[in-house]
Amino acid sequence: MRIDIITVYPEMIEGFFNCSILKRAQDKGLAEIHIHNLRDYTLDKYRRVDDYPFGGFAGMVMKIEPVERCINALKAERDYDEVIFVTPDGEQFCQSMANDLSLKQNIIILCGHFKGIDYRIREHFITKEVSIGDYVLTGGELAAAVMSDAIVRIIPGVISDEQSALSDSFQDNLLAAPVYTRPSEYNGWKVPDVLLSGNEAKIKEWEMEQSLERTKRLRPDLLNK
Ligand code: ADE
Repeated sequence: MRIDIITVYPEMIEGFFNCSILKRAQDKGLAEIHIHNLRDYTLDKYRRVDDYPFGGFAGMVMKIEPVERCINALKAERDYDEVIFVTPDGEQFCQSMANDLSLKQNIIILCGHFKGIDYRIREHFITKEVSIGDYVLTGGELAAAVMSDAIVRIIPGVISDEQSALSDSFQDNLLAAPVYTRPSEYNGWKVPDVLLSGNEAKIKEWEMEQSLERTKRLRPDLLNK
């Protein structure tokens, strides 16, 4: 899968994609992530990508022209399944949306900045608007990074033990059970006996009980989904 991220601040997220599982996914050829600097697509001699809003409002607004030129340049190379704009007033991002998007071939994520983007971009180029939560960030870059991480890590083969992505919290609308490692006792704090028993059926049963108990206690809303 390929993700193209369009931003005015590539340096905000470049490092993020060069670490850990996202780097491994790219090294293995399972994901391609390309970050495009919107300023490379403007014809303005000062590389300006924003302008004053009509109506006398405060702040600056991202212009149509560089966004159009960037999206058209990408679309000339390949077809895109979605052109996503990350924005606090978009549809709430969640695990099932990450699962759906991980099945796509090519997606574009456009990051907003300044006061906002000219609304005509949203009307004419964007196929999906996504928020990562009910709070306002300085720009869409962190939202694009969060979404790309959640999408790429569940592409088959990215995590070596596929089971470990499937048993994450929120797959099945349940929170994951607790995990432990050696030593089995530390400061008198013991790992639950069942995990040391070697009895796979009992361990599975314990894991499900724990998932249900934690979900009921911490996120009861998930049980109604
Ligand atoms: N841009 C600014 N805030 C955002 C949010 N909460 N989600 C997505 N994009 C954003």
